[in-house]
Amino acid sequence: MEAIILSGGFGTRLRPLTYTRAKSLLPILNKPMIVHLIETFPEEVNKIILAVNYRKDQIENYFKENDFGKEIIVNNEPKPLGTGGATKFAEKHITDRFLVLNSDIICSLNLKDMIKFHTKNNSMATISLWPVENVSEFGVADVKENGNIVGFVEKPKPEDAPSEFINAGAYCLEPDVLDYIDTDRLVSMEKEIFPQIIEDTKRFFGFKFKGYWMDIGRISSYIEIQRFLLRKNKIEKCQGKDCKIYGSMKETCIGNNVTIGKSSKLNSVVVYNNATIGENVNLSYCVVGDNCKIADFSDIRNSVVGDNEELLEKTVLDNKAIWTQPIPKSYPDKQIGNVIEK
Ligand code: GTP
Repeated sequence: MEAIILSGGFGTRLRPLTYTRAKSLLPILNKPMIVHLIETFPEEVNKIILAVNYRKDQIENYFKENDFGKEIIVNNEPKPLGTGGATKFAEKHITDRFLVLNSDIICSLNLKDMIKFHTKNNSMATISLWPVENVSEFGVADVKENGNIVGFVEKPKPEDAPSEFINAGAYCLEPDVLDYIDTDRLVSMEKEIFPQIIEDTKRFFGFKFKGYWMDIGRISSYIEIQRFLLRKNKIEKCQGKDCKIYGSMKETCIGNNVTIGKSSKLNSVVVYNNATIGENVNLSYCVVGDNCKIADFSDIRNSVVGDNEELLEKTVLDNKAIWTQPIPKSYPDKQIGNVIEK
């Protein structure tokens, strides 16, 4: 079975981290986000099609260097085509029923069970569904008792919501779905294709699951997922190789060759490789990029520091994104090709 992983987004809400790297390679517990997804694939998935665009070389190189025991095809879009367009662009690699997955969702979905549910219902398209409390921030599925989805309501008031279930970003599709998608243009699977399938009264089902689900769209959810996984695995911190730690860490994850100076305190922080944190530094709810230097007596909260940035002694920051270098030329100044309203 083929699985298309959508990993061509710019990840604009995760800038400046995504100025220098593909969103799907951002580490979560020191392992690229996309690997967490691949580890949930059932054995029947034997071919992975990576739908890439922005920073495709990084993704290609990563998969050249790391073997997952499955055939990997890097399918490079000439321009960003959105979630539907990227799926259509992978058509030449599709031979039968297939999966489409957002690369930026970490969850407990059992794909094998979803495929079984799809088959049992003789569905043309099945999407994973996750319950939320804040329905007014999402597109909400109108889903019947048997799982049949008859529509979506965009950002409803809680009293008008047809259900509590939103599209959780994993799809099992029949090849016929590809006939609904135009070639060579930006197409949203969620906003254009799914509503069209429903309008045509084709079999369209939602697979509900329990456990956890997190969309890694923003810096806050990026930090939150690491805290969640640390707690879930009952570990206080995650640490790479060759680190020198003289301070303390709580619900924190650091990469390789990181130095943390005396009396420094890190709480809910993600630090990438080769970063140096000075002495008496307080970091709380932050991400610190590769090769960063944060000098002594700094106090940084709710902030993100891009790769190779240096912060001077006694820097105080709250709710800031630090980037002093040129922005990559092709990088958009706003979100494009959105999949799930966030
Ligand atoms: P933002 O810019 O912050 O919204 O992030 P994003 O670009 O990743 O967009 P979004 O979170 O809506 O994307 C959800 C998933 O679809 C992610 O896995 C993206 O990599 C992927 N995606 C979004 N747009 C495209 C696209 O044009 N082509 C491909 N191949 N994947 C895309």
